[in-house]
Amino acid sequence: MAVTVEERIGKLREQIRYHNHRYHVLDDPEVPDAEYDRLVRELRALEDEHPSLVTPDSPTQRVGDTPVSAFGTVEHRLPMLSLDNAFGEEELRDFHRRIVERLDLGESAADLEYAAEPKLDGAAVSVMYESGRLVRAATRGDGTTGEDITHNVRTIDSVPLTLRGAAYPDLLEVRGEVFMPKEGFETYNRRAAEAGEKTFVNPRNAAAGSLRQLDPRLTAARPLDMYVYSVGVVEGGELPDTHSDTLLRLAEWGLKTCPDSDVVAGVEGCLGYYGRIGARRSTLPYEIDGVVYKVNSLRLQRDLGFVSRAPRWAIAHKYPAQEEMTVVKGVEFQVGRTGALTPVARLDPVFVGGVTVSNATLHNIDELHRKDVRRGDTVIIRRAGDVIPEVVSVVKSRRPRGARAVQLPVRCPVCDSRVVREEDEAVARCTGGLFCSAQRIESLKHFVSRKAMDIDGLGAKVIEQLVTLDRVKTPADLFSLTGEELLELERMGEKSVENLLAAVEKARSTTLPRFLYALGIRDVGEATAQSLARHFGGFDALANATEEALQAVPDVGPVVARRIVEFFAEPHNTAVIVELRARGVEWPETEPAATPPEAGPLTGMTVVLTGTLSSMTRDEAKQKIIDMGGKVTGSVSKRTKYVVHGDKAGSKLSKAEELGVETLDEAAFLDLLSRS
Ligand code: IVH
Repeated sequence: MAVTVEERIGKLREQIRYHNHRYHVLDDPEVPDAEYDRLVRELRALEDEHPSLVTPDSPTQRVGDTPVSAFGTVEHRLPMLSLDNAFGEEELRDFHRRIVERLDLGESAADLEYAAEPKLDGAAVSVMYESGRLVRAATRGDGTTGEDITHNVRTIDSVPLTLRGAAYPDLLEVRGEVFMPKEGFETYNRRAAEAGEKTFVNPRNAAAGSLRQLDPRLTAARPLDMYVYSVGVVEGGELPDTHSDTLLRLAEWGLKTCPDSDVVAGVEGCLGYYGRIGARRSTLPYEIDGVVYKVNSLRLQRDLGFVSRAPRWAIAHKYPAQEEMTVVKGVEFQVGRTGALTPVARLDPVFVGGVTVSNATLHNIDELHRKDVRRGDTVIIRRAGDVIPEVVSVVKSRRPRGARAVQLPVRCPVCDSRVVREEDEAVARCTGGLFCSAQRIESLKHFVSRKAMDIDGLGAKVIEQLVTLDRVKTPADLFSLTGEELLELERMGEKSVENLLAAVEKARSTTLPRFLYALGIRDVGEATAQSLARHFGGFDALANATEEALQAVPDVGPVVARRIVEFFAEPHNTAVIVELRARGVEWPETEPAATPPEAGPLTGMTVVLTGTLSSMTRDEAKQKIIDMGGKVTGSVSKRTKYVVHGDKAGSKLSKAEELGVETLDEAAFLDLLSRS
């Protein structure tokens, strides 16, 4: 029987909605993107031919093309409440105690069920469905009156335009948080920065700002998502009698709920949940500022009721803030191992992200100037997870009069040598080399570090003392340290001296790659040191190699080759090496690798690895790529040949897609390997 246009359109819409739900709500797509695109194209074509059949709930109608001139207002029929906060365990216990007393729970207090959820850091939104169709979306506003943002919320792919199934209430208001996932936030900001456009300070501002666009096409271009966490008005239908079952029901109707919610028992259960989510906070794909506990039984919720603007049956348990304000006492320049000057803001100590922070890096001089941090400025400091604290921005309105911009010093703040900045380089450097005690200290720290000579027990404090006393001028001096002089140092007792001497002794027998890496030749990292050692076999062949010969080593380009030659041409470098060998530092030498690897399928190509592969470790994958003649680097650029992605691949994958670089999943990568 012939299918009518109406029937075909209906069928296509149904299929597209199904796949939308799989993709955007369940994160579990069933068909490849190309198949989905075909369905959408067919539907669009039919709707173009038959404009009278277009309906507002058609999946093609998410993004309207007419900006609104102003936001209308929406009265919330039930007020949108806020939550009280608990800033520590005591305040949480007080909350639980109040509930137990009010409900007269007695013995069963420890069993009281709470629904526990992450407290998402975005914008609260109400979405109204009439007969299963999205008719209105609004901001929270002052809780009574919000702004009509229907045109923008419709563009969020995970918000269904029509509910699934049939058993939903005639009128259903759902409430939840619109947010920008961390990855989308980073990609968005990177692109905006590249295009010279305004970037967002954090995902919360990004979400709120995106919802307040008059032109829905702008909102549609923002990577927004929404998790539903409660209901408002419900008419003509029944809901379950616990909060957690209500969320499950909402999910059945196609709404997206947070996958990290749980049901816990009593205050101890709450604390356990707080700890579990806290441990995952920095790796969750979305930003949170706490968790929320809600008495799970809706009957008990009704018994407890409200005080002013917040329910008695729920509380937000906050994590330490990841952003705080403080004042810059000064901006100083730190000198690194290679002489690079890094501007550092010295701060009035501030408690942020669970620790007290008194310094924040500004990375380099361009960053310093871009953020324009000055002495006396009030700044926002951010410390998320284990990431080093950074200055997010300056609160310009609080800048003291007469505060002057920070200039790059002309002379090294440590040794007074000249500071130079090579053209095209973001970094400025002290030219003092090992004359500069800062560079000496940093070089020694590198020399003894785990992946280099691995001298355990020689910490920063000991090195600083040895350099300041002028007892250690070069790494070779480390091998003539005596027990007596080490005992003189602060923080060094008999046992630590004994351990340190044993570690020095052990380090005398090392390997060529470790030794090369320990020398700290600029741009010669661990991997390059390994390639050099494999290629030349022995130290002298390498030290005497020409730039040309060096460039035959996989991984070594013209810049690195020049740095190696320059390093060995410097008499004080060779003198230190001679001395190290005289003090007994040695390593086994091997035959040079016969010939450079045969031209393999990846010769001359650069590959980036991201995420976890299930069939091999990162190092094994790297070795296989090198064996095939390829080179592995850490960042994706237009010159990257392939991005190999495993599980939990991050921004490198999106970067590849953005640049049009070919991506290989694990199966495709294994296939490539099998062809070698
Ligand atoms: S429940 C009556 N659950 O926190 C309870 N709120 O200060 C109303 N929020 O405006 C809110 N995640 O924007 C609830 N899982 C969650 C939440 C959550 C974030 C926000 C919401 C609200 C604010 C309350």
